[in-house]
Amino acid sequence: MSPMTVLVTGGAGFIGSHTCVELLEHGHEVVVVDDHSNSAPEALERVAKIAGRPVTAYRADLRDRSALDAVFKAHPVDAVIHFAAKKAVGESVEIPVTYYDINVGGTTALLSAMQAHGVHRLVFSSSCSIYGDATKVPLTETDPAAPTNPYASTKWICEQLLADMCRRLPELSVLALRYFNPVGAHPCGLLGEDPRGIPNNIMPYLAQVAVGRRERLSVFGDDYPTPDGTGVRDYIHVMDVAEGHRCALEHLDDEKGMRVFNLGTGVGSSVLDLVNAFARACGRPVPYEVTGRRAGDVAELVADPRAVAAAWGWTAKRDLGVMCRDAWRFQELNPSGYAAG
Ligand code: UFG
Repeated sequence: MSPMTVLVTGGAGFIGSHTCVELLEHGHEVVVVDDHSNSAPEALERVAKIAGRPVTAYRADLRDRSALDAVFKAHPVDAVIHFAAKKAVGESVEIPVTYYDINVGGTTALLSAMQAHGVHRLVFSSSCSIYGDATKVPLTETDPAAPTNPYASTKWICEQLLADMCRRLPELSVLALRYFNPVGAHPCGLLGEDPRGIPNNIMPYLAQVAVGRRERLSVFGDDYPTPDGTGVRDYIHVMDVAEGHRCALEHLDDEKGMRVFNLGTGVGSSVLDLVNAFARACGRPVPYEVTGRRAGDVAELVADPRAVAAAWGWTAKRDLGVMCRDAWRFQELNPSGYAAG
């Protein structure tokens, strides 16, 4: 396909930065908008280093409409990939208004700017968490949405908003990608997941325990109706997710309107499976203790990944061992994350 200019919101974040590398390596121009509320500008330096090409970046909150207008005016944007959002389930239960404000308000601001500047192509970062407390796995895209926490609700509301827009504006092409649990890192060890403060998600927490920054992992509940009682998730390598986004860009023009796809592997792993796989990857035991369940969590989320495979021929290629190996390599080479720069 011919190269596009792609506006990537949240491009300095975990999935965003890996996607920027993938796009740059495939000849696309990348323009990042990120407020760095949960990301480091250093990540973009490393993106440029890996890809061997510069990244144009703006520090802005999406709800700042004049800042967004200036970006659209300065660049001939062909498509937008919208990652920028808050994404911690537990935190979203504590501060729901902030989640709605940033995740839904950021999306409405972006959509109105896209409309104003005649941009019709969008890839939206959705989440498996919208399926809620699934009564069966694997989950297909036609299974009902039933969010169990404010984070998931914001993603579901954005999907509905996009569907409404597509009904109204026939020129739009929108792909909502429901990621399962993205983990891992770029195999070169320069780029990875480096959340601000105490990690909410399990993989960066495990990595910080393994490197000695934290004492032990808290396993949030071992009384779920799963084989070992701990939560089961479909972990997917962030490189696979990044490649999925490049593929999405290439397929945006296949059809007008809104399409929704799961991005997962179809393989479920429990918290203890992940702890054991990580211990193998780093060559040392990772201390943990079982504590109570986390508010808003569900027992099991595993994708049926066949729809996207049938549509684009895309499947996830990397297994749990590779995910842990790469997450560990990033942590080992960057024990304090990007801070040491
Ligand atoms: N968990 C622990 N201890 C921790 C953190 C998590 O036991 O310290 C457990 C959780 O209970 C869950 C599993 O590990 O069973 C995964 O939890 P994460 O917080 O890593 O991820 P979630 O399944 O809660 O998923 C959320 C969002 C996804 C998003 C994902 C990664 O719902 O959309 O975080 O950001 F992709």
